[in-house]
Amino acid sequence: MSALFDTFTLKDVTLRNRIAVPPMCQYSAEDGFVNQWHEANYQSFARGGAGLVIVEATAVSPEGRISPEDLGIWKDEHVAGLTNIAQRIKDQGAVAGIQIAHAGRKASANSPWNGDDHLAEDDPKGWPIIGPSAEPFGANLPRTPEAMTKADIERVKADFVAGAKRALDAGFEWLELHFAHGYLAQSFFSRHANTRTDEYGGDAQGRGRFLLETLEAVREVWPENLPLTIRFGVIEYDGEDERTQAESIELVKQFKARGADFVSVSVGFNTPDANIPWGPAFLAPVAERVRREAEIPVATAWGVDTPELANETVEKEQLDLVMVGRMHLTNPHWTYFAAKTLGVEQPSWVMPAPYAHWLQRYA
Ligand code: FNR
Repeated sequence: MSALFDTFTLKDVTLRNRIAVPPMCQYSAEDGFVNQWHEANYQSFARGGAGLVIVEATAVSPEGRISPEDLGIWKDEHVAGLTNIAQRIKDQGAVAGIQIAHAGRKASANSPWNGDDHLAEDDPKGWPIIGPSAEPFGANLPRTPEAMTKADIERVKADFVAGAKRALDAGFEWLELHFAHGYLAQSFFSRHANTRTDEYGGDAQGRGRFLLETLEAVREVWPENLPLTIRFGVIEYDGEDERTQAESIELVKQFKARGADFVSVSVGFNTPDANIPWGPAFLAPVAERVRREAEIPVATAWGVDTPELANETVEKEQLDLVMVGRMHLTNPHWTYFAAKTLGVEQPSWVMPAPYAHWLQRYA
């Protein structure tokens, strides 16, 4: 049996294999509500055989959306649609996860195929944006955010807590806090975005405070027996990589001490001036270092595109789970493809019988 098809248990949750679908925004919602597009999308990933399917960045407040078309979890009315998605994922044998998010200074943007840039300040579809400091990201996202007051900080933490409770009510069993990709939490930790002089800025401890406090508040409402995980950018590729990684790993140790169970290791994306070494599984060694030094299970995404490479990262104990994103857009049944490629016995049975039977019979 290949390592990629070993089960993985975290707290009371067991994944049928090490393949996870990372959160991927669909930019297809109205007022944050799930619709048929989301239902079909997530059901197909789960039907394909992945062990874990994580629903896209779902905004904890309207101001925390990346675009007006993001999914939302800021009101009770959102729960029914999210329950439907979670149920569809579970019915197909996968574990249902969700990423809850606040986009910070990258909020109020056009969806990627409509420009991927900030909505104009006078656009009626847009809204005022907030961040740790009045520092713009730049490039395609030039708007300057309002520096958050202490009251803003408390409000956003409470929004994360309310979002976590709704995720639980909807039946999700794996919660991922979006502390990556230059969005609000990640930007608090970043020297590129956070120039505050109060206790939420300054040294790594100060810059990490918002993340730690949010995690602690969510842990109080998210059940102890279910995985509470964090997606976190631990490196920027901005020429300061050793310092950023060392600071990030220290923070991950504190995440763990405050009840985080797992880290999905990613890139900071806090500056447009990064020089990212895109390539097959380029983050796997970075994730492996987090795993070893912080002693916490990890995953990463980014270019783990082939079954062989995915299997190797697990076998070499670089990763506990492999996040396979765009390959699932190419083929939602990627896990079946991986099972065939890696010589798993009766590979079609990673899918449900109405597909598996015929694929086995006429293979
Ligand atoms: C993404 N990504 C992403 N990441 C995240 O943390 N939350 C999100 O909602 C999204 N949204 C999103 C949408 C789409 C269409 C893509 C392609 C990507 C990043 C994603 O989770 C993953 O890290 C990347 O796709 C890289 O992995 P692959 O595609 O190389 O396997």
